[in-house]
Amino acid sequence: MSKPKVLVTRPLFPEARAILDETFDVEYWKRPERIDRAELLERVTDKDALVCLLTEKVDEELLSAATKLRVAATVSVGYDNIDVAACTRHKVIAANTPGVLDETTADFAWTLLMAVSRRLIEGDAWMRTGAWPGWDLDQLLGSDVFGKTLGIVGFGRIGQRVARRAQGFQMRVLYCNTKRVPLDVERELAAEFASMDEVLERSDFVTLHVPLRPATRHLISTDALGKMKRTGYLINTSRGPVVDESALATALEQKRIAGAALDVFEREPQVLPALLGRKDVVLAPHIGSATIETRTKMAVMAATNAAALFQGHPPPNALNASELDLREPS
Ligand SMILES: NC(=O)c1ccc[n+]([C@@H]2O[C@H](COP(=O)([O-])OP(=O)(O)OC[C@H]3O[C@@H](n4cnc5c(N)ncnc54)[C@H](O)[C@@H]3O)[C@@H](O)[C@H]2O)c1
Repeated sequence: MSKPKVLVTRPLFPEARAILDETFDVEYWKRPERIDRAELLERVTDKDALVCLLTEKVDEELLSAATKLRVAATVSVGYDNIDVAACTRHKVIAANTPGVLDETTADFAWTLLMAVSRRLIEGDAWMRTGAWPGWDLDQLLGSDVFGKTLGIVGFGRIGQRVARRAQGFQMRVLYCNTKRVPLDVERELAAEFASMDEVLERSDFVTLHVPLRPATRHLISTDALGKMKRTGYLINTSRGPVVDESALATALEQKRIAGAALDVFEREPQVLPALLGRKDVVLAPHIGSATIETRTKMAVMAATNAAALFQGHPPPNALNASELDLREPS
């Protein structure tokens, strides 16, 4: 019997390939450059499954071209690249990779927070010029982290992991979230529920952990930035469009906040030119989950999501399971 066909837009890792190779007739996109849209649309037409990255859009156009498609699995927890409602209309299961990257992404939010507050990147650049004259009292003075207030916008899986790490720095933690979390979670994480305005106004560090949705696009606007402390820092490891980048550049230029550290950008891979030259900004190339361990787990999870259906199970991380009425076979 012939195997179902899958298109995989990166060669992934051996552990994930083993799962796919067993279940599917696999077509891997192996060229170093990203698959372009026309190529993706053409190659997906005869496929039963797609394993894609957050850089590929699964939308009405793709779903109309891929008439045999039954599952689209993204190797990411954020699924703003997938039009889940359109998938449901086309009876395609959409799946993501929640849970396996929480600790790693929380670590990276902290990496950015520490780097921007202690001016690490400026210091590193200075050292490499060979021009450092030696220790002095007022060089690269940053801001304390210990004992300050951390504001977490979006208190889900990753936001809560970020909060846990703040205990070691004896910080006060404020959070806002669509819903207040249970009291035992608040107590365990020593986190105080607040409105978004309060989080912005009272925090020394504001870190973003919301998904990108229409309601969170430009959540951090000129207005929101204006509510932050002048000594405050903004950390973004969520999605670029959550922050209005030009509003951020203006706020930094006018010294309305002290600095920003960004892992994600509005128009990746482009970075707003006004941010590029700024010393009060730390820029990272969307590497929040980029460790060998975590990226391997994500790839395995996406491969498992794609293969499950063809092994007689609903994908473990289906995003439209209830809409498509998916149930484990009894
Ligand atoms: N930089 C990276 O490499 C990287 C890695 C992992 C995740 N991410 C991003 O982080 C996001 C969060 O991941 P997660 O697994 O913690 O998701 P999650 O769904 O567990 O948590 C998101 C939280 O945000 C809350 N929320 C939604 N809209 C809000 C709003 N307007 N105001 C306040 N809270 C709001 C939700 O209630 C939820 O609790 C992902 O969607 C993804 O885009 C980025």
